[in-house]
Amino acid sequence: MSKKMKASYIEAFGSPDSIKTGELDRPEPGEGEVLVRVQSAGVNPVDSAIVRGMLKDAIPSKFPLIPGWDVAGVVEERGYAARRFSEGDKVYAYARRPVIQHGTFAEYIALPESYLARSPEKLTQEEAGGVPLTGLTAWQSLFDAGNLKKGDVILILGASGGVGTFAVQFAKWKGARVIGVASQKNHDYLKELGADDTVDYKENHVGDAVEKIVPAGVDVIFDCSRGEALKQSMNTLIKNGRLVSITNRNPDRRVDIRFEYVFVEPNARQLEQISELADNGYVKAPVSRAFRLEEAGRALQEIESLHTRGKMVITP
Ligand SMILES: NC(=O)c1ccc[n+]([C@@H]2O[C@H](COP(=O)([O-])OP(=O)(O)OC[C@H]3O[C@@H](n4cnc5c(N)ncnc54)[C@H](OP(=O)(O)O)[C@@H]3O)[C@@H](O)[C@H]2O)c1
Repeated sequence: MSKKMKASYIEAFGSPDSIKTGELDRPEPGEGEVLVRVQSAGVNPVDSAIVRGMLKDAIPSKFPLIPGWDVAGVVEERGYAARRFSEGDKVYAYARRPVIQHGTFAEYIALPESYLARSPEKLTQEEAGGVPLTGLTAWQSLFDAGNLKKGDVILILGASGGVGTFAVQFAKWKGARVIGVASQKNHDYLKELGADDTVDYKENHVGDAVEKIVPAGVDVIFDCSRGEALKQSMNTLIKNGRLVSITNRNPDRRVDIRFEYVFVEPNARQLEQISELADNGYVKAPVSRAFRLEEAGRALQEIESLHTRGKMVITP
């Protein structure tokens, strides 16, 4: 008889309150896979989109479906030929697989070891579980798509959320000047992360406020918000400036700029680089709230607000 584990899962697409918590089969690590005991699983807006069926035409799904794409945990068992890690190692991963079924809102997950990186030693495992998806999104947006360089001025829209938290810190590490956009209540938080200037999108026209701070304009806009901020700030981008969005595949935009949409990819090598940055003191991963597995539905309701600060995680 197969071993069991506790997990949060759905049996059909629906609202977050349709998530159940109960016993499912514990996965067995196959060839090249390791079984990870989950210590922390980051909560992301995409998890609620998955539960609601909004990704069903883009990525195949199977039921019962355990949501969750972020994990930090401990290697519990190793499958055939999986020898990069040892039992007991602390690891973390962005666990988006080609089929959505075995997610991280569970006590265990089996993953190909190619997904895994060693967890940052300077972060707790609870914090590390909130890093992979949003950290990789920020990394790939700033450095792969945005070609951010030392001395650039970057405007980050939605700077206090999960992705923005890492984008602000990575941009400062690179030596850029950072203008962070979020509501006023999050401005002290943005300063603590290293933002040089802050703009409140609720009380200001974002473009006018940015122009006062940097009359010569910004080199890069990183758009990780869904309101009017991008439209309002488009004209602050210099000629040939770079616009990277993770929320809009085809925004109205000027013709004299470079645009790229990013959909985050798993990348263990980049996670190793993020671990190194965290261990050298460049990256914090603030957790605003930790939920139990039984509270997964509530966690998804909160993340849907798009106004949570830093990261929320589930700790089984
Ligand atoms: N394409 C991809 O690969 C990818 C990857 C990750 C995330 N995403 C998407 O990117 C977005 C951000 O993700 P996240 O995890 O960072 O979300 P989050 O943690 O919910 O953060 C949302 C951020 O947006 C700000 N915000 C909310 N309403 C705003 C408005 N009207 N104007 C300007 N800023 C506003 C919030 O600030 P206040 O709380 O101060 O309002 C907060 O800083 C989500 O839509 C998510 O689905 C896409």
